[in-house]
Amino acid sequence: MDRLEEVRRRHGAAEAGGGEERRERQHQAGKLSARERIDLLVDEGTFEELDKLVRHRSRDFGMDEQVIDGDGFVTGYGRIDGRLVYVFAQDFTVFGGSLSEANAQKICKVMDLALKNGAPIIGLNDSGGARIQEGVLSLGGYADIFLRNTLASGVVPQISAIMGPCAGGAVYSPAITDFVFMVDQTSYMFVTGPDVIKTVTHEDVTKEKLGGPVTHNTISGVGHFIAADDAECLRMIRELLAYLPQNNHDDPPPFPTQDPPEREDPALDGIVPAESNVPYDIKGVIHRVVDDGAFLEVHEHFAKNIVVGFARMEGRTVGIVANQPAFLAGCLDINSSVKGARFVRFCDAFHIPILTFEDVPGFLPGTDQEFGGIIRHGAKLLYAYAEATVPKITVITRKAYGGAYCVMGSKHLRTDINFAWPSAEIAVMGPEGAVNIVYRRELAAAEDEEAVRREKVAEFRERFANPFIAAERGFVDDIIEPRQTRPKVIRALRMLENKVDTMPRKKHGNIPL
Ligand code: HXC
Repeated sequence: MDRLEEVRRRHGAAEAGGGEERRERQHQAGKLSARERIDLLVDEGTFEELDKLVRHRSRDFGMDEQVIDGDGFVTGYGRIDGRLVYVFAQDFTVFGGSLSEANAQKICKVMDLALKNGAPIIGLNDSGGARIQEGVLSLGGYADIFLRNTLASGVVPQISAIMGPCAGGAVYSPAITDFVFMVDQTSYMFVTGPDVIKTVTHEDVTKEKLGGPVTHNTISGVGHFIAADDAECLRMIRELLAYLPQNNHDDPPPFPTQDPPEREDPALDGIVPAESNVPYDIKGVIHRVVDDGAFLEVHEHFAKNIVVGFARMEGRTVGIVANQPAFLAGCLDINSSVKGARFVRFCDAFHIPILTFEDVPGFLPGTDQEFGGIIRHGAKLLYAYAEATVPKITVITRKAYGGAYCVMGSKHLRTDINFAWPSAEIAVMGPEGAVNIVYRRELAAAEDEEAVRREKVAEFRERFANPFIAAERGFVDDIIEPRQTRPKVIRALRMLENKVDTMPRKKHGNIPL
């Protein structure tokens, strides 16, 4: 056989993976093969595979008779919307997509290239975990990947798609990455599976319940996005990348829009209900302010009392953080604090301005929250806002009460421009709570306690629950008509385009983890 023929044969063998039968099983399970996934992910014809001929070196357990070129994993680089990305995809048809020493080195190679060349890394996970036959060599391979995930954090965007099993310590690579996509029905993630759980704690739980996409997108918060199938997952990754820069020295790509920067929206004037306790959907505000109403929500199903995601203003990416009065009245709790903090830190690391919409009655009361550590978790959000040096703009639409006023991008945390709508209420606490404390004795002594309470609440609301005191102090830069929000925010973003702010010299801070 001449050399060229040998190359063709081995390339063909690598592409065949674990063979026709296993590929068929993969399809029957509703999953695409590693190569089909990459084809859908990157621009047509742009993928350049590396290490296609790498082989595992295991000699034990009959492995020397089962050698497949490429060892299952497909690694390389390609383009998404013309922009460079690095990709690795685990092929479940080869030893269940398990990680060998050899294919850990393949992943590390593309991660090193991604770091040196400043482009996102996308991992398509579908694996039975550490290759059992390789023992510590495989474990070491995982640790090599974790190290690179950590070094790349905040330097290039890292995206994980879970498209099959992801179990044991293997979950910690996706966990370090910035965004985790999970495919409905076919994916799951857990540190210890149902069988181990049954043995240790006698709990009966299915894989789906323990670590399926719904669990991780609604309860644990490990997943940021849920996709109906592989194809949708890959399309969603492309959509997300369009909002992101290539690296921490780059800006997100501009996106042309016909939406006029000076567009006012009269509907915003009536969006906040007159009654302070009546909910409304903050996403209605977001859609009306951003370019073309387009908002890519991150963590949509988790901690719904805060909304985070990407949008554009005048064609430029902004990160939106918004309290959601339609869920838990928009209170901050443990999960929403952590969700918000991680998003703010992502934006800050990647030069994405942060636009905050604030309507927060305070932190959620209760023993669950206190015992769960709302003090240290709430502090994360505060810390994230305070350390962020990107342009920061806050719009108070209604309530800004108590500690939550401070946390949600207040002027005191070096937010650049703070707007308030006329409906804003800025105070230590809501009028009812305040009156109960401040007028406790008067209320107890009153003949008609309710009448006195009503009177005092009205008085308190008039005096404190408004934006004027904050504006008089300069804590709010301007009180604006809601309809003007888009043009006002755009002008502020233009003004902040070349913002430079710094942190004191330090190795790193000590965010209360
Ligand atoms: C080697 C493996 C493998 C593994 C699966 N295979 N997992 N080979 N190492 N870890 C092989 C199987 O032998 C089989 O080979 C093929 O992959 C498909 O596996 P099936 O079991 O037939 O598939 P399925 O029924 O879909 O079940 C998938 C599975 C199961 C749930 C993932 O295979 C499984 O439980 N595997 C072990 C998972 C595990 O415990 N991994 C270690 C986790 S600890 P053939 O030749 O028949 O096709 C870990 C530590 C990481 O990963 C540490 C980081 C710090």
